[in-house]
Amino acid sequence: MHTSSAPRITLLVTGSTGFLGSAIVAELLTAHRDIALLFLIRAENPEAGRLRLTQSVRGMLADPALLSHLTPDMILCGDLQHFAELQNDPRVQRITHILHAAALASFAWKPEIWQVNVEQTSQFARAVAQLPAMQRFLHVGTAMISGDTTNQHVHETQFPAKVRHFVPYTKSKAEIEPLLPTLLGRIPVVIARPSIVVGHSRTGCSASPSIFWVFRMIHAAKRVPFKTTNKVDIIPVDFCARALITLTLSSELAHACYHISAGDTESCTFDEIDAAYTRAEGLGRDAPLQQIDVADLSALEPQFESWFGPCDTQRMSTVAKLYRIFAGLNVTFNNQRMREAGIAPPPRFVDYLPVCQQTGEDQPIAEQMLYDFR
Ligand SMILES: NC(=O)c1ccc[n+]([C@@H]2O[C@H](COP(=O)([O-])OP(=O)(O)OC[C@H]3O[C@@H](n4cnc5c(N)ncnc54)[C@H](OP(=O)(O)O)[C@@H]3O)[C@@H](O)[C@H]2O)c1
Repeated sequence: MHTSSAPRITLLVTGSTGFLGSAIVAELLTAHRDIALLFLIRAENPEAGRLRLTQSVRGMLADPALLSHLTPDMILCGDLQHFAELQNDPRVQRITHILHAAALASFAWKPEIWQVNVEQTSQFARAVAQLPAMQRFLHVGTAMISGDTTNQHVHETQFPAKVRHFVPYTKSKAEIEPLLPTLLGRIPVVIARPSIVVGHSRTGCSASPSIFWVFRMIHAAKRVPFKTTNKVDIIPVDFCARALITLTLSSELAHACYHISAGDTESCTFDEIDAAYTRAEGLGRDAPLQQIDVADLSALEPQFESWFGPCDTQRMSTVAKLYRIFAGLNVTFNNQRMREAGIAPPPRFVDYLPVCQQTGEDQPIAEQMLYDFR
């Protein structure tokens, strides 16, 4: 006899057309077909939303046939600011879990970053607080709210009220986190803070070149204005997606905040990354990376076009100086809590860098860079 029962879990994903969001959807389609899925998407109508979602998820899926499981009835057309208007929709009333990955994740200086990441996210949380079946709200934060912390292995609890932020994006993400429990009232909130997400462990940079261009620049210049032995905490997007889903759906969690990170042991040094890049290119031996003085950066500008290809030298210089600050921090993010929650550590960046190198070099560096300043 065939029996069917309504899914126990109805999960709403926000930000599903973005880099992390589309990896989350790919993982849900691959390994979590027993739960009812809803996606909040900025689209004119459900079919247009389904099409947008299909286009972004396609590059993340090993089996494209799974895309046929994305149907218009899974799409809630709307945005964070106006989510309250959807509240009477019976599908919304059934939501039990939310994985909130929508944000303006740009390193640019724009007022919209505060509006989306603080004001509209607050409006969204206030509306969610009214939903009757909610069991968990997972907010995707960022480990980089640690700001100007240097040379440390940062723990989740290390969240000083006053850190200096280098860009409005991290400041906005630091601002919203402590507001959420009050805004969400009785709904349990879990904060997941991924470290730096670069590429996909199987498809490399084909879905997004975010941050990978930094390593291309370093490899082309063979110079960094910080110690070459500094570590950087990088995870692939597919690992991040799986970890976020685990934290959203686990019945019991010991903590309210988790790093999703490579941690001290799986993080790589800039030396290691550049050597892996050289091996991936397969062009034979290459000089090791050199440390230069930051004061020498401007004097190197005349060489930028020969290293980086066609570019606006002035703009490249500004961006190189900004990223120098991040790359020079030498911070890793403790992931003991993540491991205790049953999430095995990620592959090291150097281990999946070859696929990123193969898929991440088809665009000029200057164009790829724009991806992180939208
Ligand atoms: N990428 C990283 O390295 C990284 C690292 C740590 C943490 N994170 C966090 O991960 C989350 C996702 O980042 P991402 O890199 O995937 O960003 P992304 O690629 O820029 O995607 C952002 C997503 O948010 C949606 N969105 C933006 N504003 C919205 C609004 N007002 N209403 C509804 N949806 C809206 C976008 O929709 P549209 O397609 O309609 O624009 C898109 O789906 C963010 O919270 C970010 O802080 C990212």
